[in-house]
Amino acid sequence: MASEQQIDLFGAVASETGTPAFDPELIPTSAAIPILPGTYTSMEQIKVHCNTCQRCPLAAGRTNAVIGRGSTSAPIMLVGEGPGQYEDESGQPFVGKSGQLLDKILESVRLTSDEVFICNVVKCRPPGNRTPTTQEAEACSGYLQEQIRMVNPQIILLTGATALKGLLGIKEGITKVRGKWIEKDGRFYMPIFHPAYLLRNPSREQGSPKWLMWQDVQAVRTKLDELQQV
Ligand code: URA
Repeated sequence: MASEQQIDLFGAVASETGTPAFDPELIPTSAAIPILPGTYTSMEQIKVHCNTCQRCPLAAGRTNAVIGRGSTSAPIMLVGEGPGQYEDESGQPFVGKSGQLLDKILESVRLTSDEVFICNVVKCRPPGNRTPTTQEAEACSGYLQEQIRMVNPQIILLTGATALKGLLGIKEGITKVRGKWIEKDGRFYMPIFHPAYLLRNPSREQGSPKWLMWQDVQAVRTKLDELQQV
């Protein structure tokens, strides 16, 4: 997008080329309207749009859109699937059982909310906590891309298959790719297990999902320390 067309969300500018100005106020109305890079300048603006958004059917069940928590200048972004019941009620990501486990996992390698911004592929709760459809993930992807652009994290953790597919288009099972760094567009991505999967597999034995997660978060801590030394 040409810089003269950059959008100031709450004061759209007309294009100097004579083409109709992109109207950011229309974004929440239809998934056919693209979310251009540079549309938003704050998470608050994204929150306002997501709370009125009708881009996909998840809008119908929404109590609160769930945008994110943690520092908006964190070096790590963690992307989950979508809000559950507690997240929908509170407007905060990962506050239920999965979230409590996630916080413990991050704390175990001294990762604080200053260092990790937590969000999801879709901002509204899928009914019955089902997996979001590809269409729902695509309708919401512009919001996530804007979050990535704003936070500008060095590391992105993809918790579970929906995040892996939604952000990198990788359809392989998480068990195969977890723990492997994927470098793309100057960022380091790591697929990791979803905490809900760890709740269903509580063993800590060597080779178990929990044990593997412990290896993965230690690798994340090491990578962050290395990146911060540069
Ligand atoms: N699971 C997710 O993927 N995200 C949340 O915010 C909560 C549970």
